[in-house]
Amino acid sequence: MLKLFQIASLLVAMLCSLLCVPLIFASPASEPALQNFPMPLQTQLVDQQQVIPPLIKTDYPELIVELGKTLFYDKLLSENQQLSCSDCHSPDHGFADRRDFSPSTQGGVIPVNTPGLAYSTLLLYQNWAGQLPSLEVQLEVVVENPKVMNLPWPQLIRRLKQHPDYPARFKQAGYSGIDKSTITDAIVTYEKSLAVPSRFDAFLRGDSNQLSAQEQEGFRKFKNFGCVSCHQGIALGGNLRQKFGVMRDYLPVDDNTLKRDLGYFNFSNHPQDKYYFRVPTLRNVALTAPYFHDASAKTLEQAIKVMFRHQLAIEARPEDISDIAAFLKSLNGIPYEPE
Ligand code: HEC
Ligand code: HEC
Repeated sequence: MLKLFQIASLLVAMLCSLLCVPLIFASPASEPALQNFPMPLQTQLVDQQQVIPPLIKTDYPELIVELGKTLFYDKLLSENQQLSCSDCHSPDHGFADRRDFSPSTQGGVIPVNTPGLAYSTLLLYQNWAGQLPSLEVQLEVVVENPKVMNLPWPQLIRRLKQHPDYPARFKQAGYSGIDKSTITDAIVTYEKSLAVPSRFDAFLRGDSNQLSAQEQEGFRKFKNFGCVSCHQGIALGGNLRQKFGVMRDYLPVDDNTLKRDLGYFNFSNHPQDKYYFRVPTLRNVALTAPYFHDASAKTLEQAIKVMFRHQLAIEARPEDISDIAAFLKSLNGIPYEPE
């Protein structure tokens, strides 16, 4: 205890002398003496920390994953039997789709871009505004959501019970029957199984050959410019809400077609939540263009430029954007086969 106290006072004394010497000796004319003092310290700290822990593959019971996958691809889950989860969350596009907005079963479109969901299990909140707490609650809501599957749960349960294959499949998977909790467990287990490690995780675990020199430079810039202050943790995002346009107001490019989304305010009604969105994960991000809740950035490079400008108040140099884009591509966890 005493030792700790001594160390603490020593540190305070050291800090004081560092801070006070320039203050005492600087004449009023040489005011910027402190200017370059905090930056190098901060940069060093970020570089020395392992800011992102590596993702390690989790294995789930195979028969449950297979059952969940069949349900995820099955149009029986929608009222008109014309829509499956995979129609919007396609494995070819990082479990998002290439459209700005996916069509709603009620006509028109769903007014936010479809996010990828392969890493959603790692996130603290679901959906763009982060208004839902878990994959289980998300599923509960999306099945009955009139704009999406539009199917009351009792009807879904009945359909699966009367199906020629599902009762046996649920038994084989170890479930005692077909009900809301077993359907949810199967689909959510499938969703969780999609969170596979990327090259970047192998790099974090010590295999430095996994990232090219440019990708490593991109990672360094990602940390040092401060992207990591929001896109933090194992998913590089997903654990806090932040204002979109925190440094400089953000307006969608095509402001006429869409009312500006107020973000979490729509759910909380607190004025301070206006334009707050969940910081999205950047895993698989290179596969899920277009970007942002309003699909206003069509390419990854464009999205990075917007982030620099509106979240950091920095006009990025082209090489900063391309290095960071190269790094973000190393986060792809799902083999990408172009059409
Ligand atoms: C018509 C297109 C469409 C279909 C079909 C669809 N979704 Fe989605 N999904 C979306 C959109 C759009 C969002 C974002 C909603 C929001 O943020 O308000 C979303 C969000 C999600 C999320 C949250 C992801 C995240 O990281 O925030 C999950 C999980 C998800 N959907 C699972 C499913 C499942 C399971 C099904 C099938 C039962 C399904 N979706 C069917 C369009 C769709
Ligand atoms: C102040 C917090 C903050 C900082 C700093 C920040 N971001 Fe973001 N980022 C967000 C939020 C919030 C969103 C979601 C915006 C929306 O509503 O669509 C986002 C979205 C993104 C997206 C689009 C993801 C998608 O799925 O559409 C990318 C790519 C991205 N950020 C990369 C970066 C990079 C690279 C940096 C550093 C240059 C950075 N961000 C800095 C908060 C931040």
